[in-house]
Amino acid sequence: MSYTQLPIFDQSGFVIVDSYEQEADPREWENLVFVDWKSSGDTRFAPLASAYGDMECDGFWNHTPPKTDKDGVWVQQNVDIAPILTRRAREVGANIGRCRVIELQPNTYADAIYNLHRDDNNRLNPEGTGWIVRSFYNLTDNPDSMMILREDLDDPSTEVRVPLPAGAQVVIDTQRLYHAVWHPGNQPRYCLITSYESGPELEAWISTRNPVTVIESPFMDPAEIAQGNESAMNKRAARAAARAESSSGSGSSMEVLSEA
Ligand SMILES: [Fe+2]
Repeated sequence: MSYTQLPIFDQSGFVIVDSYEQEADPREWENLVFVDWKSSGDTRFAPLASAYGDMECDGFWNHTPPKTDKDGVWVQQNVDIAPILTRRAREVGANIGRCRVIELQPNTYADAIYNLHRDDNNRLNPEGTGWIVRSFYNLTDNPDSMMILREDLDDPSTEVRVPLPAGAQVVIDTQRLYHAVWHPGNQPRYCLITSYESGPELEAWISTRNPVTVIESPFMDPAEIAQGNESAMNKRAARAAARAESSSGSGSSMEVLSEA
């Protein structure tokens, strides 16, 4: 497999760049049009760019004609409501696929571990072009919430927890890393998620923003980690057993649709 990939992702699969001064901006996301979209956790989404510009969030490959997660078409109604978010997404200059604001309701650490998944960003992506990664710009101020990343789904020793205060900006190879957000707040969390094609534009945007690829995760009680991990593994096992008993075979599409 040969795609253009950025070397800065080699070490950890993610890059944290300088925070954006989020609180100076209006809260555009409060006025966006959201659509119900089942993902990992209790979520809704407001599309800024979709496969063909409609107010919907389906994977680009589920359209006619199908396409990879590039060349997203701006959803005019939401772009008009959120010009600053749109400008921030476009500022990178790389090819954009899906671009949307996620609304995530509060959850527990165990929920987040259960929700861990990898994306399928590069389905239909032609070899020889840029590998698709995703940026996450936290909009609400959630310093106690964490983007949880793991190389190995069931192994907590591979876990990194990235705090999500307002303005946090993280770019993640979400097809490599399992990811989900632990959001213990009492209000929904909002985040702008954009799919970008790897290439010189994204590389330049990252390199001028003091990129960091290794962090020390905020402390968590090892017992809480172990409990959350065990709970999630038990739920996953129960889900797998339920699927095995079902003859429908229709339960496998969640993972590729999931967001964080
Ligand atoms: Fe995801």
